[in-house]
Amino acid sequence: MKKIKISIIGLGFVGLSLAVVNANLGNKTTGIEIDKEKLDGIANGKPDFYEPDVEKLLRNSLKKKTISFTNKFESILDTDITFVTVGTPSDKNGKIDLKNFKKAIFQLSETLKKKKSQHVVVIKSTVIPTTTSEIVLPIFKKNSNVIVNVNPEFLREGRAINDLKYPHLIVIGSKQKNEHKILKEYYKQFYQKLPEIIETDFTTAEMIKYSNNIFLATKISFINSIANICQKLPSVDVNQIAHAIGRDPRIGAQFLQAGPGFGGSCLPKDLSAMINFSKKFGSPNQLLEAVEKINKSQPKQILQILEDLKLKNNKMAISILGLSFKKDTDDIRESVSIKLVNKLLKKNFKINVHDPMAIENFEKIYKNKINYYKKISDCIKDTDCCIILTDWKEYTELKPEIFSKNMRTKNIIDARRVLDPRKFNKLNYRAIGLG
Ligand code: UDX
Repeated sequence: MKKIKISIIGLGFVGLSLAVVNANLGNKTTGIEIDKEKLDGIANGKPDFYEPDVEKLLRNSLKKKTISFTNKFESILDTDITFVTVGTPSDKNGKIDLKNFKKAIFQLSETLKKKKSQHVVVIKSTVIPTTTSEIVLPIFKKNSNVIVNVNPEFLREGRAINDLKYPHLIVIGSKQKNEHKILKEYYKQFYQKLPEIIETDFTTAEMIKYSNNIFLATKISFINSIANICQKLPSVDVNQIAHAIGRDPRIGAQFLQAGPGFGGSCLPKDLSAMINFSKKFGSPNQLLEAVEKINKSQPKQILQILEDLKLKNNKMAISILGLSFKKDTDDIRESVSIKLVNKLLKKNFKINVHDPMAIENFEKIYKNKINYYKKISDCIKDTDCCIILTDWKEYTELKPEIFSKNMRTKNIIDARRVLDPRKFNKLNYRAIGLG
């Protein structure tokens, strides 16, 4: 079969990662983005977000001329498959906001009316169950040559390229059994070793994506609940509990890292979208609501430790290490750092912050209300409490001396459990889940 040409609508971390990996395989790839500033940056080799290796692969493929970017939908006419990776954020009530997604689907449908041969439209955006059958398909009603597939994405920020190259699974939802063939053929060309493929209908594929993210969220809220009990029990450390129960294959070791709660662009949004969606069927979903409630109140654990330390708010300085919602990304969406800084500002603390990647994004929100540092030692200098909020590698390597030499009062709150408590027992070291 001839090489399949693809186009991708929406160049966020999912869309752009797919584009650059595909182009680096030597396949002609077209990226479509309607945000002019974002598009110009990407077309010049500079994405507007940090994702390991994406910039390098982008520049490579621009050099090899295997990738092109445009805001014109017409360019999809020259391709066989269009992946839709447009963002589906939450509205202010936590419901999924499909405005941009629907706009893209409408425009795609209009454009594809000009195409004579068959075209596959792949929905990679996370959409609430029944969206494809009830919203997408009716829009394509007059496009007799269009096949629609739902192909959810399990990429993690900070690991997108790796996850894309080595997925644990591919899910393809289609209307009829034989309608997954072209996409399957594409993946045969993409992967040397084809991962397991699960074929479903549209709604099952949509539901798989939500269930996957919500299960991960549930695991985190579970371990955080256990951590909060451990904290009250002298000598008990939640990390030991997580390590032990994680060895049970029925439980599994991943996503049992206790901390300040989960953030990011997916877990909080998908959880709240499913809570809203399930209300349609009558009674509220108690488990999902509890998972969300636990997550929203988890940052209070940090405030409680701070209160126990009895720092005088208007005279004391707090340093925060880590602003992004997790390591290896500059993304601060739904990051605990925002919730915490808002609370600390209200209490009149002086705030110093450090992050290897996310300072610029944080500065856009807080401007001169807080102090930004490039060096960890400068950030913690003369502060009275240091809170570690993100699991960046450089924080895991910190030695007690950097705190004892620089801080005014040696209080450390390790909200991510990145330090070894045994090495910090000469300082006032506190941690989530450590009794
Ligand atoms: C998530 C899903 O993992 C991915 O499959 C999906 O495609 C998109 O959403 P991502 O948002 O990139 O990926 O981050 P993830 O690694 O899942 O972490 C989410 C949040 O949970 C982060 O704030 C992280 O710090 C937190 N977390 C994760 C914990 O607090 N404890 C853990 O054990 C794991």
